[in-house]
Amino acid sequence: MSSMKRGYYFLRLNGSRNKLPCHYNGVGNLDRTFPVTMRKERIIRFILILISLAFMTVFMSHIRVLPIEPSFNSYEQIHIYRIIGNDLPPRHKVGQVLQNTRFILENEPDFPNTKKWWIINRIVDNEYENAIIDLLKQHKKDYIRIPFNVDEYLRADFRLEDFPEPDFFHSYEFMNFTKVAKIRTIDYTYHDKNIYVMNNNGGRNVALKHGQSQPNARWIFPFDGNCFITNSAFTEITSQIEKWGKDYKYFVVPMARLLNNSQLLSDSDQKPETPEEPQIIFRHDAEEKYNENMRYGRRSKGLCLILNMIESPMTGVPTPSRFIARPVIPWETNENAQNTPSNYTSKSLYMKVGWVFRLFSGQASQELNQKESGALRAFNRLLAIQDLIDGIDERIARTHKNFNPDRLFLYDENSLSNARIKYWSGDEKITRIVDVMLNRADEITSEVSDLHKVDDSLFLNTSIQITFLKLNTDSETNLPDGESNEMPELESRSNEMPELESKSNEMPELDGKSNEMPELDGKSNEMLESSISTSQLFENITTLTLAQYFSGNFLYSRWAANLIRTFLLSSYGIGEEDKITLLEYNDTCLDCNVFDEGYGFPYLNKIPRTIPKNSESSSVFYKIPKDIFETDPSHFLDSCKLLYRIKALTHREFVELQALASYWLEYLISSPEGTSTGRKPDHRGTLYDLQILSLSGFIDDVRLHLRVSNRLRMRIGKQFYIARDVSLMNAAKISQPYEMMYVKNMIRNKMIKPSAYEDEVFRYKSLNLHYWMLITRIIQNVKVSNDLWLYKSKDGQKLSKAIMSHLNKYEVEGRKKHGLFLLKPLMYIAHKAHKISSKFSQRNNENEYFQRILIKFSEKYSFDYSDESERRENIDSNVGLGNRIRKNGVPPFWMFGIA
Ligand SMILES: *[C@@H]1O[C@H](CO)[C@@H](O)[C@H](O)[C@H]1NC(C)=O
Ligand SMILES: *[C@@H]1O[C@H](CO)[C@@H](O)[C@H](O)[C@H]1NC(C)=O
Ligand SMILES: *[C@@H]1O[C@H](CO)[C@@H](O)[C@H](O)[C@H]1NC(C)=O
Ligand SMILES: *[C@@H]1O[C@H](CO)[C@@H](O)[C@H](O)[C@H]1NC(C)=O
Ligand SMILES: *[C@@H]1O[C@H](CO)[C@@H](O)[C@H](O)[C@H]1NC(C)=O
Ligand SMILES: *[C@@H]1O[C@H](CO)[C@@H](O)[C@H](O)[C@H]1NC(C)=O
Repeated sequence: MSSMKRGYYFLRLNGSRNKLPCHYNGVGNLDRTFPVTMRKERIIRFILILISLAFMTVFMSHIRVLPIEPSFNSYEQIHIYRIIGNDLPPRHKVGQVLQNTRFILENEPDFPNTKKWWIINRIVDNEYENAIIDLLKQHKKDYIRIPFNVDEYLRADFRLEDFPEPDFFHSYEFMNFTKVAKIRTIDYTYHDKNIYVMNNNGGRNVALKHGQSQPNARWIFPFDGNCFITNSAFTEITSQIEKWGKDYKYFVVPMARLLNNSQLLSDSDQKPETPEEPQIIFRHDAEEKYNENMRYGRRSKGLCLILNMIESPMTGVPTPSRFIARPVIPWETNENAQNTPSNYTSKSLYMKVGWVFRLFSGQASQELNQKESGALRAFNRLLAIQDLIDGIDERIARTHKNFNPDRLFLYDENSLSNARIKYWSGDEKITRIVDVMLNRADEITSEVSDLHKVDDSLFLNTSIQITFLKLNTDSETNLPDGESNEMPELESRSNEMPELESKSNEMPELDGKSNEMPELDGKSNEMLESSISTSQLFENITTLTLAQYFSGNFLYSRWAANLIRTFLLSSYGIGEEDKITLLEYNDTCLDCNVFDEGYGFPYLNKIPRTIPKNSESSSVFYKIPKDIFETDPSHFLDSCKLLYRIKALTHREFVELQALASYWLEYLISSPEGTSTGRKPDHRGTLYDLQILSLSGFIDDVRLHLRVSNRLRMRIGKQFYIARDVSLMNAAKISQPYEMMYVKNMIRNKMIKPSAYEDEVFRYKSLNLHYWMLITRIIQNVKVSNDLWLYKSKDGQKLSKAIMSHLNKYEVEGRKKHGLFLLKPLMYIAHKAHKISSKFSQRNNENEYFQRILIKFSEKYSFDYSDESERRENIDSNVGLGNRIRKNGVPPFWMFGIA
């Protein structure tokens, strides 16, 4: 109808717009100001009803003899629906839903001509759901169950890319948000999951639809599960809707919050102050329904939207929501515009009647009608919903997807074990690689054992026939070996300039070089330990561990474990096992045997249960490695798991490693250096995510693991840039502008020569892609997050495209000399990621691409030599060992299970 008439109507209401229910001011009394304009219409309706009543009486007389037809509508009953959802701590006390339901069942009166229904709305916890059902059955109530279905739930993903800029969560704008605004922004990413789980308006619509399908329901009350109706409230509501029910299809029932449910039992039943968000009553022929795209926790649950005729929801929000609404988040406003009915009929569709009580949430501090408690409620609602959804995701990861922190993350266990079987059965190509592995493991063993010496000062019980080792720090003669080998490593590290990079993105300074040169003639443990490159240490440990895995020689695993002990856990190492005389029984010292056997049964492990700490070692037990921001821990963590499996590490040592990992993780997440590194839009940010992903999984923090694996997808839209090349018909080239900026910065700061630009850009682009591929493979192996390989950003960036673009460009340029060592693992790892993904998705044109490009590279297990004079280094590079390859993000023996 016309806007003039609408204006007229509100004029009759003294223009008092605040009488709209959206304001919940509790004093609305629309009934008294009911417009006269309606009178004529009412008379007509009255006549019509008289006619139909007459008709019905005639019809009713037939009914007695005829069976009742389902299509027959008598429309006289009231159907009250109570929608029960999940408990939401901290907004609600846990168990409150069940307690309130019981309170209603036990205390709410039965009303005449009224049917009560219960809707069990996607309760996640089966036990809890069953308890509710049992309770309802006990009270002989009918219910409708809307089940929580894991597969349906999993179809809802996070919304990561609707923000003003790509990778918004690492932007400076987001960083500057207040805490509330941050939580609100994060809440937006949960939108689709929230809608599914809470199903707030969805549940109401189910109630409405169910009510409308009932043959005799005239009035449908789709109310929240914690609404309590007293006798006088019911009388008031029904007398009003009887009076006005012919003119209105909707009645709004204001709500009063209770601080103590027993008020209802003791106090006289009087009309309370009702400042809270109202409930709505629908006539059976109502056309409107709730907006199901409004998620829980956002403003007033979308209530206003369905009845909003005049005002925009933004201006109609009550105080608590206004607090939360600041700052207005730009990407959410569109939704409002789209949902605001623009050409509504002029006639007001609703009236305000009666009241209901909202039972106590269990949290008194949030229930007062003050501004602060409103804000607290809103804030807690946001926290509660995120916690609920994170909890669901965690549970699905653990129960449905079998997350297991003891499984390897980076190396695929099946491929690894296949390779071993092939090695045992004499596969030539694999044998060549394993021979290199064993050879390097021998070298490490002999060099590293020179770094250690037996500690005689340690008092030993005769029954523990084992020697303990510590780092040899007092004799100069043992160091030269290590020294000569470490020098190139140190030089290369100074190229990386870790200190400088973490200081600032823009202006690396040059004075860092002096920091980077540790003095090797220092005698203390700390000096020796801090001069060690952590990534080299990790590479040694992984090499030794894999050597044991293939050869079965425990010498390797013992030294792998000893490296962990002496360098990371400040413990003694374990010396020669030959000295252990396990089979001997000492007749003369019964106590010794008792000591050896421990409690109840002999200790089955070859190493003692207790390995003493080395008190000379640094006073700080846990240390943050200096080079933590350049170190990929993923293959090292896998090695720890393998070592623990074969009992080369004790249980306590494994637990200590987890503690160490959480210490590093904490540092990465909460230190200023860590957060600023995480915000970098280039390979440093990618490595940071790789670290968080591996460390959080290792310590079994599934929630963090899931969060980072979801959010890291936001980076793809930022880091990769699609340049459409007109000359190459549709061929989109994907570049990495931030890697170029990184190299340009290094040139500006004279860290590298300008002539090295091309080489360095190639190197850092490859490095970044390598990190991305390791992340992809970890996600594929762990199998609890969405496959990264298939992820496509809003603007169409995909990892697979970025890698193809990279391989194409540099393969064409014939960057064979050094590039091959980087491109080959990248290509094979990408190919593996593709093969795994395509098992689950439809075939695509990537297959063809890989067939084409694979031909240009030699076979996965073969060796490529570009220059015979660097034979040793080339062999190492082929298998993923050595300085050169390590600095480029290629893990040791990538062909066994990573590619
Ligand atoms: C964030 O705040 C800092 C000061 O705290 C300011 O310098 C910077 O410009 C702000 N950035 C954005 C994007 O608002
Ligand atoms: C609620 O009120 C009743 C009596 O009115 C009292 O016994 C009970 O302790 C109160 N409960 C709470 C949680 O305050
Ligand atoms: C009003 O509603 C009708 C149908 O509901 C629609 O076709 C029309 O486009 C709307 N007009 C405006 C101005 O939105
Ligand atoms: C050696 O055994 C004795 C008891 O036999 C015990 O008191 C002592 O603490 C043990 N020493 C160590 C280092 O375990
Ligand atoms: C790693 O192994 C090499 C021998 O291949 C050795 O020179 C180096 O000292 C070892 N480094 C660490 C930290 O164990
Ligand atoms: C048996 O125990 C005695 C007393 O502790 C000790 O002197 C002796 O060396 C032990 N014998 C062996 C074979 O370990």
